[in-house]
Amino acid sequence: MNKNIQIAVVGSGYVGLVAAVCFAEMGHDVICVDNDERKVTALQGGDTLIHENYLPELLERYRNSKVRFMTDLAEATRECQAIFIAVGTPQSETGDADLSYVEAVACEIARSLTSYKVIVEKSTVPVYTNEWISRAMERNGVARHLFDVVSNPEFLREGTAVADFLHPDRIVVGADSDRAAAVLNAIYAPLTSGEYYKRSDAIPGACNVSEPPPLLLTSTKSAEIIKHASNAFLALKISFINAVSNLCEATSANVEQVARGMGLDSRIGPKFLRPGIGYGGSCFPKDVAAFRSVAEQLGIDFSLLTEVEKINAQQKRRFLSKVRSALWTLRGKRIGVLGLAFKGETDDIRESPAIELVQMLLAEGCLIAAFDPAAIKRTEQILPAGPSLKYVGDSYAAADDADALLILTDWSEFGALDLKRLNQALRYPIVVDGRNLYDPQIMAEHGFTYLSIGRPTANPVRELASVASMHS
Ligand code: UGA
Repeated sequence: MNKNIQIAVVGSGYVGLVAAVCFAEMGHDVICVDNDERKVTALQGGDTLIHENYLPELLERYRNSKVRFMTDLAEATRECQAIFIAVGTPQSETGDADLSYVEAVACEIARSLTSYKVIVEKSTVPVYTNEWISRAMERNGVARHLFDVVSNPEFLREGTAVADFLHPDRIVVGADSDRAAAVLNAIYAPLTSGEYYKRSDAIPGACNVSEPPPLLLTSTKSAEIIKHASNAFLALKISFINAVSNLCEATSANVEQVARGMGLDSRIGPKFLRPGIGYGGSCFPKDVAAFRSVAEQLGIDFSLLTEVEKINAQQKRRFLSKVRSALWTLRGKRIGVLGLAFKGETDDIRESPAIELVQMLLAEGCLIAAFDPAAIKRTEQILPAGPSLKYVGDSYAAADDADALLILTDWSEFGALDLKRLNQALRYPIVVDGRNLYDPQIMAEHGFTYLSIGRPTANPVRELASVASMHS
């Protein structure tokens, strides 16, 4: 088979755009299709549209050459051997995934299909979607031997999406025909053979020539379930450690020590055991709800997932109570907020627990000065600045004259602040850290009252010393 494959990627969101430039980086020729003309023009002009490591470099390297952007899906279908569907699957009111965009793309592909194509589900979709796509193709008059539908879920994280794509833990290909499996094997060969990692200009990451990523071949339905089950399991891990953190708070234990003790067990592993203010983003909340909904429709009791969601919602309310416990009353209090994005190193604010908390604080009558290194522009669109809310240019401006500073997003720069300067900026040296970015002992030594998640509150060392001398 020809090593260089013609690939169409439909959708230029996080998954589609990253997949498109990474396939080009792997040597393939790519057409990235989006029906939003403005987005296509912006991408052709070199605007990445999203904040993502390595994306500007790769886009610059390949745009308008190995990656062409266009709105014409019919042309892309005719030219390409494999068509990856990476359009949105938003959450509907009932919790399940809205597949109308996927269906629309399938129908449009069907109308221009004249020779054999592999249609690949890259979007996160519920089990049985491959069958629906096949049905849609056939209803639109495509003979069954002219296409196969494959599931090739993506496990990339925002912020590290490019490196995750090129250095995956595993590549999952759900294919029910050998012909389709062979096309996907060829597409990923530069990674699975280790060839890509020999290049001196390869994007760095965990894989290398001697340890290339494995490609797991499964049935289509298994691959669809692998994606939902993986995200639901990671969300469960987070809710679990958040519940444990509450137990630690009730007993004055330290959740960081507990998580470390658990994570050293190789069966559990240390990742995704960071307690916080609950998970957010465009994937976990939506995918847990969709997986729960799939189970319900199949008559399977998976109420464990309902508990995962419940703990996640509670975690935000508990954080608000923590702020209240530090400040007594909230109305009229000046609060500095660090972080608006749903996690660090991204400008994405979808389902951000930080934004939900800002909204809760505003509803309580607080006056907020918020800073985020990348997400202010997006936040302003849904929460415009006003008398109770202002956006500021750095962390110290957020802390300026505030009654307390809250850390809501785990940006690395928030964990490396000049503590002396921060203390001087605050009206009261109170920090409530929803991401456990600091060592309580160090915060106490710098004169802060420091509340974090699942760890005892730290009080200023000097204050304690003077209290002790008063009693002696
Ligand atoms: C997640 C998965 O990690 C990816 O594997 C998957 O491909 C992606 O969803 C998707 O389905 O597209 P992402 O949403 O980018 O990726 O973000 P994560 O890094 O997984 O974080 C999700 C949320 O969990 C964030 O709010 C983060 O702050 C929170 N989190 C994560 C914790 O609270 N604790 C942790 O230990 C880890």
